[in-house]
Amino acid sequence: MDAVYKHGLSSERPPFTFKSDDWETLAKEQMSNNSLGYVCGSASTGETYRKNRAAFQKWSLVPQRLVKTKDYPSLETQVLGANLPVPIAAAPIGVQKIFNPDGEIAVAAAAAQERVPYIYSSAAATSIEDVAKANGDGVRWFQLYWPSNENNNITKSLLKRAKENGFSALFVTLDTFKLGWRPSDLDNGYNPFLRPDSIGAALGFTDPAFRGQFKERHGKEVEEDVGSAAKEWARTIFPEFSHSWEDLKFLREHWDGPIVLKGIQAVGDAKKAAEYGMDGIVVSNHGGRQQDGGPASLDCLVKIVDAVGTKIDILFDSGVRCGSDIAKALALGAKGVLIGRPYIYGLVLGGQVGVSHVLRSLLGDLLMTLHLGGIPSANPKHLNRDVLEYSD
Ligand code: FNR
Repeated sequence: MDAVYKHGLSSERPPFTFKSDDWETLAKEQMSNNSLGYVCGSASTGETYRKNRAAFQKWSLVPQRLVKTKDYPSLETQVLGANLPVPIAAAPIGVQKIFNPDGEIAVAAAAAQERVPYIYSSAAATSIEDVAKANGDGVRWFQLYWPSNENNNITKSLLKRAKENGFSALFVTLDTFKLGWRPSDLDNGYNPFLRPDSIGAALGFTDPAFRGQFKERHGKEVEEDVGSAAKEWARTIFPEFSHSWEDLKFLREHWDGPIVLKGIQAVGDAKKAAEYGMDGIVVSNHGGRQQDGGPASLDCLVKIVDAVGTKIDILFDSGVRCGSDIAKALALGAKGVLIGRPYIYGLVLGGQVGVSHVLRSLLGDLLMTLHLGGIPSANPKHLNRDVLEYSD
């Protein structure tokens, strides 16, 4: 594991800085206005986005001294019944080709190389089959934007493809049945899903059920009217209305493996997720991109862990930017942490190598944070609320 740390001191120079605070600024200099607005922008005034970041400052990791250790801390964790070497995953992020032509392929390959699970987005710009190939023997999970019930055949087909291609868990995103009120995208007149080049429709365009439905409705193949097909795929995965708790039974019947609900913030919803037999939740507000004026995701994590921490696997995201952020979320009770925007900045700055650099840097930072804090492992028996102090 010390390879992660030595990475920073090796003679082979990294593609860009180790200063995680600078990644966003550097990436902004290289992005088009559209891509920049899309990744950096958030919902409405950005209140939720700012709260996500500010919440980390209220918690401090208090270092413990003279803790006798032989080696670097172990970062191993157990998530959804599997042992994982590191406690982070690459969050599902759509349309990755708008940031770099290699898009999802670069990220999936980097994630496998760094032994970080890759979560494929339903709004990907690359097919699920091609991403599975690039990810090789890496751990991969499938994120579903859940089509409306009238499109159950498409949902079944997507789940079948995910299973056949080695995706071991299903992440159902609940906070984005429609895209949020995002002023940057509105100002730019930019919606990657409605673009005539169909950049966010790779999953749909390669799906037999979607293709069949399109042909039946329009009398032509997807390729003959790409613009309309892109719009139809966007309407399929963002179907205007939200599902109900009862609808989860459908997913359970058609997915043989762990199911995780992504986007949980309310304690009541976390309890329901456990009652409805879900295997996990991601405490997330989509990085403040969906509903504004909400709480910091980290504040929700604390309450949710207290309510259901022993009943269900709790993962966390929204606002994680450095090693100590990861350590704090784990200490508060998350079993794993999803990295979002930072790896996209890595993708912009250096493709696959850039994504690897971001993931390794975050892990190196985490490793040294634990090591110097006298915390022998990322296991909850060592990394828990005893090492944290709260101040408002
Ligand atoms: C996202 N996110 C997201 N989530 C999801 O379930 N499916 C998706 O397709 C996307 N797409 C997406 C695009 C972009 C550009 C961003 C920044 C985010 C949300 C993502 O999984 C995660 O919840 C947030 O990125 C976490 O917030 P931070 O840490 O990136 O601020």
